[in-house]
Amino acid sequence: MGKTTVSATLAKLFEASQKNVYAVDADPDACLAAAVGIPDEQIRNLKPLVEMKELIDEKSGGGGAFFSLNPDVDDVLREYSIPLGNIRFLRMGGIKQGGSACYCRENSFLHALTSGLLWDKDSVVILDMGAGIEHLTRGTARSVDVMLVVVEPSKNSVNTANLVKKLAADLGIKKIKFIGNKVRNEREREFIQKHFDAEEILGFIPFDDEIWESSMENGPAVELGGELLRSMKEIHQKLLREVDE
Ligand SMILES: Nc1ncnc2c1ncn2[C@@H]1O[C@H](COP(=O)(O)OP(=O)(O)OP(=O)(O)O)[C@@H](O)[C@H]1O
Ligand SMILES: [Mg+2]
Repeated sequence: MGKTTVSATLAKLFEASQKNVYAVDADPDACLAAAVGIPDEQIRNLKPLVEMKELIDEKSGGGGAFFSLNPDVDDVLREYSIPLGNIRFLRMGGIKQGGSACYCRENSFLHALTSGLLWDKDSVVILDMGAGIEHLTRGTARSVDVMLVVVEPSKNSVNTANLVKKLAADLGIKKIKFIGNKVRNEREREFIQKHFDAEEILGFIPFDDEIWESSMENGPAVELGGELLRSMKEIHQKLLREVDE
């Protein structure tokens, strides 16, 4: 649908505006790092956050609160992330088990990430969530500034987006916005507009043959510029205003 493409492009745009970016693959299938061109081999060697369990136990005496104030955080981040300029890539890892997977440990980390306990205001955290968000705890959800839902001009996609919206609201996520993706013409744009309130829609990304083709070559679409970058720049600006409010 475009979640990873949007996340990766936003990471680049935030970085370009002098932010430190933490980009987290929260979906086991996601590959945010690959989307910005990090080589596969480096990604394969990246330790997933699920492996942090023992480390957290050890440092917190089992309490899980270790991340809030500990100076060792920087070491941990280094070990569990790939740096690319001012972006650091992390991944949750883990296996989806019909929704029963426990992400509590990762959540204590995610919570520290999203609630800004680890750094200054100039950092941005982007989570590429995949379709399911039920593994977010309420605590983590509450510290999310904005949730972006990527929606395509199809009935299925609109239905899913509305379901995700409801789930997100139930979890306590304050702000939920939609991005229309793969929009080929005015009719498709109107289709999406018809299903959401105008102020809920952050913007539209046109269907772009170049992006589509770059995925066959396994190249990073984010580098292409063109339509994707143009529309994402607008979305990025709107997003900044949303978060400021
Ligand atoms: N606007 C667009 N125009 C053309 N192709 C696009 C566009 N946005 C995304 N794509 C392509 O669609 C495919 C899916 O995009 P992406 O990986 O970003 O979606 P996703 O929601 O993360 O998917 P998944 O659920 O598999 O993680 C990719 O091949 C990507 O290159
Ligand atoms: Mg993805």
